[in-house]
Amino acid sequence: MEDNTLIGDRFGRRFPYLRLSVTDVCNFSCSYCLPDGYQKAHGDEFMSVLEIRRLVTAFAELGTWKIRLTGGEPTVRPDFIKLAQTVSSIPGIRRMAFTTNGYKLPERAQSYFDSGLRAINVSIDSLDPRKFHEITGHDRLGEVVEGVNAALNVGFENVKINTVLLKGVNDDELDGFLAFVENRPVSLRFIELMQTGDNLTYFRQHHVPSTVIRNKFAERGWVLQERADGAGPAVEYAHPSYAGRIGLIAPYAKDFCSTCNRLRVSARGSLHLCLFGNGGHDLRPLLQDDVQIDELKDKVLSLMQFKRSSHFLHSGDAGVRQHLASIGG
Ligand code: 5AD
Ligand code: SF4
Repeated sequence: MEDNTLIGDRFGRRFPYLRLSVTDVCNFSCSYCLPDGYQKAHGDEFMSVLEIRRLVTAFAELGTWKIRLTGGEPTVRPDFIKLAQTVSSIPGIRRMAFTTNGYKLPERAQSYFDSGLRAINVSIDSLDPRKFHEITGHDRLGEVVEGVNAALNVGFENVKINTVLLKGVNDDELDGFLAFVENRPVSLRFIELMQTGDNLTYFRQHHVPSTVIRNKFAERGWVLQERADGAGPAVEYAHPSYAGRIGLIAPYAKDFCSTCNRLRVSARGSLHLCLFGNGGHDLRPLLQDDVQIDELKDKVLSLMQFKRSSHFLHSGDAGVRQHLASIGG
C-alpha cells in the first residue's frame, strides 16, 4: 500500500485509512451489539453530506486515501447514495468501502457500485437461517446471501464477510463457513467478540479465544498468508482448493494494535483515535465552512499526539464504548 499520509503517531504508525460512521441507527438488533435494537439517544443530528465532504476533503489533503463508510447501518440513511458519490469524487480518495448488514442488498448492489463503492463487508454470523434470525432479529439470511452473490456479480473488487465468533451459537459452524468460500472469491473473517460497556454478561457467555479457531484452520490445511505491507490487523489464510479466503481479527492478540492503520470519526463528527479509546474529539465546529479546512487539518494532526499505543481490553477496560454501533466495528 502506497502511503504518503502526513497522519502519523508517536509510535511510528501511519493512518491512511479513515472509518467514517454516517449514522448510529441500525435496523438489526444483533445480540452482541444492540440486543434491544437501536435506541434513539440525543436527536439524530448526524453529519450532513456537506459536512462529510469537508471532513473527508481535509483528511484527503493530509493523505488519507481509503474510506470505509460504517454505522450503525450506513445504508439506512436516505441520502446514502449521494453521500457515497460525494465522498468517492473527492480528489485523493482512491478506495471506497462500506460495511453493511446486507439489508436489501440484492436489489441495491448495483446502485452502491455505481456510486463509487468498490469494497463491501457484509455481516453474517450464522449460515443457519434460524440462528441468523435469532442473532439479528431478522429472518433474512437468504436475502443477505443473495446480496453477497449480487455484490460479486456487479463487480465489487473486494467482498468480505464478517462473522463474530460466538460460543454456543456459531462455533460449531466452521465447516459450513468454509464451504461458503469454496466457490466464492470472498474473504470471510472471524472476529473475536469484543467486550463493550453493554455486553459484559453476553461476553462472558460467548467469547471464544481466537487461538481455538486458529488451530482448526491449520488442521484443515489452511495456510497463513504473508501480511501485505500496510495491511490492517486481520490475518488471512488461503487453501489451494478454495476460491475464497478466511481471516481472523483477534483484538485480544498480542501485537494487534501495532498494525493499526485507521482512525475513526463518529456520525456526529468526533474523531476517535481508537475504537476503545476514551471519548472523542469534536471536529464538528470546524465543519461549518469551507474556509475552515486548514484549521481542521491542523487540529487532526495535533490530536495525533494523544493516540495511545494500544487498547486496554486485556485489563477489562472497554473504554466508554457502550456498543460498537455508535462508532462502527
Ligand atoms: N465484538 C466484535 N465485533 C463486533 N461488531 C459489532 N460489535 C462487536 C463486538 N462486540 C462487528 C460485527 C459487525 C460489524 C459491523 O461490527 O462484526 O459485522
Ligand atoms: Fe488501533 Fe485502537 Fe483498534 Fe488497537 S483497538 S487496533 S489501537 S483502533
